Amino acid sequence: MKLLHIDSSITGETSVSRSLTAAIVAKLAAAHSGTEITRRDVTATPLPHLDLAAMPGGGGDAASASTAILEEFLAADVVVIGAPMYNFTIPSQLKAWIDRIIVAGRTFRHNADGSVEGLIPGKRVIVAISRGNFYGVGAPGERLEHLETYLAALFGFIGVTPEFVIAEGVGAGPDHRAAALDHADQTITALAA
Ligand SMILES: Cc1cc2nc3c(=O)[nH]c(=O)nc-3n(C[C@H](O)[C@H](O)[C@H](O)COP(=O)(O)O)c2cc1C
Repeated sequence: MKLLHIDSSITGETSVSRSLTAAIVAKLAAAHSGTEITRRDVTATPLPHLDLAAMPGGGGDAASASTAILEEFLAADVVVIGAPMYNFTIPSQLKAWIDRIIVAGRTFRHNADGSVEGLIPGKRVIVAISRGNFYGVGAPGERLEHLETYLAALFGFIGVTPEFVIAEGVGAGPDHRAAALDHADQTITALAA
């Protein structure tokens, strides 16, 4: 099994999302001997903002680098992504990675009848979300949630239904933080191996 492990938190060793992705990767690797893990830390090694030269067809090194990111995603059977909430959505470092994998003709296509078809059915994507406050249905922050909803829509667009492991309320005091981590641990335990 090929597993692509992506982290995007800027908070280093205290990062909640990094601890969650590490636990998910450890669980999957333990269940599948010989798992080949590719590590991509988009904070330690940031990708530049997408520009015209980095688009497919750009012709130069920037476009080749973008294609390498896309191929790495396509090659993975399982993708584990750490997605902390910064200012109500994903880190810009993770957006730069996303800008390399949503590619017409490779991960989605426009059909003659005007419909859009995702070209990536069958890939498993697990997203570990950490957020300081609460954004569930009925929570005061519900309308500010642009991370989980965004990633669900984005991956749905290319044919993937992501699985989410969520720790929320980690900034709302020690009790909420402990409960959030406990809930996330239970979700990881319940993930199919
Ligand atoms: C720059 C920054 C922006 C943040 N913005 C939000 C936010 O909009 N909403 C929220 O609930 N928490 C916010 N937080 C809290 C983080 O979501 C929380 O600390 C989470 O654990 C971050 O994931 P990490 O620990 O993997 O870095 C922010 C934290 C930082 C550092």
